[in-house]
Amino acid sequence: MTEQGAKLKLSGVEKRYGKVEALRPTDLELERGEFFSLIGPSGSGKTTLLGAVAGFTPPTRGRIEVDGVDMAALPPYKREIGMVFQNYALFPHLTVFENIAFPLRLRKLPESEIRNRVTQMLETVRLPDVGGRMPTQLSGGQQQRIALARAAVYGPRILLMDEPLGALDKNLREEMQFEIKEFHAKVGATVLYVTHDQDEAAAMSDRIAIMRQGGIVQLGTPRELYEHPRNEFAACFLGNANMLDVVREIGRSGDYVEIETPAGPVRALHEGKDTGNGKQVLCLRPESISIEQESAATGADSTQYNRLSGRIVDATFTAGSFRYVVDVEGTTPIAVRLTSIRQSEMLKPGDRVALLWAADATLMIPKE
Ligand SMILES: Nc1ncnc2c1ncn2[C@@H]1O[C@H](COP(=O)(O)OP(=O)(O)O)[C@@H](O)[C@H]1O
Ligand SMILES: [Mg+2]
Repeated sequence: MTEQGAKLKLSGVEKRYGKVEALRPTDLELERGEFFSLIGPSGSGKTTLLGAVAGFTPPTRGRIEVDGVDMAALPPYKREIGMVFQNYALFPHLTVFENIAFPLRLRKLPESEIRNRVTQMLETVRLPDVGGRMPTQLSGGQQQRIALARAAVYGPRILLMDEPLGALDKNLREEMQFEIKEFHAKVGATVLYVTHDQDEAAAMSDRIAIMRQGGIVQLGTPRELYEHPRNEFAACFLGNANMLDVVREIGRSGDYVEIETPAGPVRALHEGKDTGNGKQVLCLRPESISIEQESAATGADSTQYNRLSGRIVDATFTAGSFRYVVDVEGTTPIAVRLTSIRQSEMLKPGDRVALLWAADATLMIPKE
């Protein structure tokens, strides 16, 4: 069952409904055994892309290949692609055992083999004792594990999952993310996963494509997308971002450029890029900023660090992190996230503070 996953290749795949372009012509290649996620707001074309691969939504044009074989002529049930949906879609009138056995019975496998494979899958999803139950006798998380088992039992080389954790509450979702990763490692299939949850995608995926209005905005590893977002949309979709407008370039020295922003001068890496004509913005991740009392002396080298003054307008403690919102003259309030308390006392609204961050942590990206 731990057969290697297949290569999946989409070339110019497009789906139109009359005038609606649900999926713009899209190229995409998934490596064998890769865990690949599509993220993007509702209506951005994620389900349409998945449906095209599964065969439920035949594309208007374009080509879909699995290990070099064109899928166009194959109906969904002949594609050997497993599918998991948000609503589990278990057969309510069949036992758990028979739900998992279903794809094997369709393929007319011998009874002994069915028994072996279903038993093995129940162990893989760590529910060895529930085979005799009906789906309604399971919790949501358990039902989703059974749906995974049913999708993978016949050894498909590609697994498609459309927001499989969308119906579960937050704690269970995090637990299931881990389970799905483990499941993926065991079954070895190539996974194309859809979620609108950026953290979920970042935690699970080898690579991610960010979608918007039927097209892929940017594709890369979670880290690449976080560190080098292509535009404002991508910057805000994977992670949070503060934006500072570029008024003009003041000057350059070495790798750094000094930029006039409405909040004051800011240093950034220019990476050879042009800053001109107000077409760029500076993006600043809340977690790359540190914060200190205004009066505190800083030893930070001012050629490589930025410093802005402001006043705290909001301070929140959430599990594991502190979030401050700081009013800085000339710009929209700046969010700061600290994962450990580095100062002896918690800062509070009204406090005058200095925000510090490395010039290297200032991303310069095209304005929308
Ligand atoms: N059967 C259909 N007829 C007309 N428009 C559709 C149909 N299915 C999807 N769409 C449109 O295609 C776009 C993409 O939808 P979808 O792929 O379901 O988005 P997502 O899964 O990212 O939320 C949306 O604008 C949606 O309204
Ligand atoms: Mg969808």
